Order: sequence, then structure tokens, then C-alpha cells
Amino acid sequence: MKQPDPHSATGDLPPFLAACRLQPAAHTPVWIMRQAGRYLPEYRALRERHSFLEMMRTPELATEVTLQPVRRFPLDAAILFADIMTPLDGLGLGLDFAPGPVLERPVRSRADVEALRWRPAEEAVPHVLETVRALAGELPERTPLIGFAGAPWTLFCYLVEGRGSKSFITAKAFLHAEPEASRQLLELLADLTIDYARAQVGAGARALMLFDSWAGLLGPDDYRRFALPAVRRILEALSSSGVPRIYFPNQGATLLEDVAGLPVEVVGIDWRLPLSRARRVLGPQIGVQGNLDPAALFAPEAALREAIDQVLEEAGSGPGHVFNLGHGIERETDPAKVALLIDHVHARTARRTLREVPA
Ligand code: CP3
Repeated sequence: MKQPDPHSATGDLPPFLAACRLQPAAHTPVWIMRQAGRYLPEYRALRERHSFLEMMRTPELATEVTLQPVRRFPLDAAILFADIMTPLDGLGLGLDFAPGPVLERPVRSRADVEALRWRPAEEAVPHVLETVRALAGELPERTPLIGFAGAPWTLFCYLVEGRGSKSFITAKAFLHAEPEASRQLLELLADLTIDYARAQVGAGARALMLFDSWAGLLGPDDYRRFALPAVRRILEALSSSGVPRIYFPNQGATLLEDVAGLPVEVVGIDWRLPLSRARRVLGPQIGVQGNLDPAALFAPEAALREAIDQVLEEAGSGPGHVFNLGHGIERETDPAKVALLIDHVHARTARRTLREVPA
């Protein structure tokens, strides 16, 4: 397992890791949710010949796709090419993608929950760990690899609903009809995720992100009763991993008071909440990641620059900001706008935090 970086005291950390540690960075680091994906022609070219599952299950392909955006743009981090559903492949529920996750045999009863058995990541998804090892060997030192997993509640949504949905009403109904079985399933998903995340760090991931895409479907009481304890258990278990933890409670503006109490280095903020307001609730010990509206990448260049400046201003001049979109990049996005975004963030923030140069 990786030790904490020995250079942290000298300001020599890669900008992404420095920002995650709330230390001054040479510039505000940038990466983009779903940066490896369908907006890139080189991704679409590979995707014509291989299914999404095949790409994730083949280390050479998954490595190549992870590296595609890093070759094209001066990104400050890479994110493993996989899916939140990937570690659940080993549960034997018949996982496919069309294009979102679809399960042949969703979990619909207490008996279904009790029948579930999970296996360690090294057995169930060795190809993912092989991909992480390959990437750790190929990526430059200044471009750390982010490992990730789905948060238990978000995985629960797909496992019970069996497919994507706007309301996930089957999953939410199950919470209320079977609270005990629901908790048991969330616990199982937390156990599986702790093992999966640790295995990624062991293989060379230098940060870990938990995606809670459907956190905002829960009111604060249900979030506290069901989703939060499982997230807390994962984050606590990972405190000894030595890598920064990022938690992204999508549409979670009303949940942030609870999130502020979690053992986490960085919280991802969706585009609906200004970062200054997130910072006020989270306090000075937690960094923020985000949160340009992905739609801003469809604006003319001048308007895009203004929208980026607005996010930077909201983030404030202190350390602890990782620039990102407020959700995944849209497939119709022009890659030239992504290049502009990264250059603009780097240029506007160069050494600002180190030397306090007025903007
Ligand atoms: O960010 C990255 O570049 C890393 C890879 C990554 C993917 N999915 C690749 C992917 C990551 C981190 C994810 C996370 C993920 N997957 C989440 C959490 C983030 C979020 O968006 O809230 C969720 C909810 C999923 C489930 C999922 N997988 C959905 C809803 C879809 C369909 C998306 C769509 O736009 O149609 C997928 C498929 C998927 N995951 C694709 C990619 C590149 C498209 C696959 C294809 O080529 O057909």
C-alpha cells in the first residue's frame, strides 16, 4: 500500500494531490467527470469495434481509454476507465449496459438479499486491478490515477430497480417496505466497496472517489438512516489507505450538513450549488471539487470563460479546490472546448495560491 507522499512538506506534490490535501498548488488542478468517453472521437473509434463491457474487462483497452484524454489534454489527474457497477459483476445478477446499467435479475426481496455472496476484488474483477497496475506504471508522476466506486445507496438504486430511472421508485419503495433487508444490502455493498477500494490503492490508485449519483433522491431523514452510515463506514475504513478520499453526493445541497461530519478530504459539488455556499457549510477542513455546469461547454468561448471565472471566484483564493464539471461531460461536447477550459483554469490560477498575486 502507498505511504503518504514524502514531498508534502516541500510543496512538491502534484497539484491534484496538493489541492486534495488543502495545500497550496502551482495551479488549480482540473479533471473532468467522464473524461474518457463518447465526446472523444478516439473513444468512439474503439467503441465501434468493442462493447462497453468488453472495453472494461480487457486491461489493454481499459488502459488505452483511460490514457486517451490524458494524452490529448494537460489534465491534472486520470480516472480509471470502469463503471460504478463493475465490482458488482461478480454478484452474478446478469449485468449489461444499454447504455446505462441493466440487470437481468434485480434484487427484489429479503430472500434475494440473503442469497447474495460477494468475492474479493482480486478474484471477482482481477482485470480491473491489472488495469490499475498498468496505469500506475504508465502515467506521469504529476498525473495521479483516481480509483473510484459507487456509494452503496447509488449501487442499491441500480441493484433493486434493475435499470436507470428518474425516480428509482422501486428502489425507494424497497427501503420503506423492507428497511432491515435494505440496511443489510447497504452493509454488504459497503463491505464489498471497502475491499474493492483498498485493492485499487494497493494496485496504484493515488486517490479514491465515491460517486453517490442518486443521493439527492433521498430526503435528509432517509439519507441519514440509510445512505450515510454505509458511506461513513467506507470512508472510515479507508482512512488508513494513505490516499485522499473524495465523496460526490450528487444533488446533495440539502444533505451537506450531514456530509460535513464525514471523514473525507474533498466533497464533490454538483452545478446547482455555488461553491462559496458549499464551503460555508463544509468548513475550512474539507476541500471542494467542481462545479461548472456541463452545459457551459456549449456556450461561445467568451461566455465559457466567464462561467469558468465565476466558478473560480466562488471557490475563493484559498487552497482546496479541484476544478471539475458539476456532473459528467455530455457526449455532444466539442473537445476543443475542453482544451480551452483546462488552459483557462491553469492560466487564471497559476501560482496564485503560492504567491498571492492579485488576479
Ligand atoms: O469518468 C470517467 O471517465 C471514468 C469512467 C466512468 C464511467 N462511468 C464510464 C462510462 C465513471 C467514473 C462512471 C461512473 C458512473 N457510472 C456513475 C457515477 C457518475 C454519474 O454520472 O453520476 C453512474 C451513475 C454510472 C452508471 C452508468 N454507466 C450510466 C448511467 C451510464 C450511461 C451513461 C450515458 O450517458 O448514456 C453508464 C455507461 C457509461 N459509463 C459510459 C461510460 C464511458 C458510456 C458507455 C458507452 O460507451 O456506451
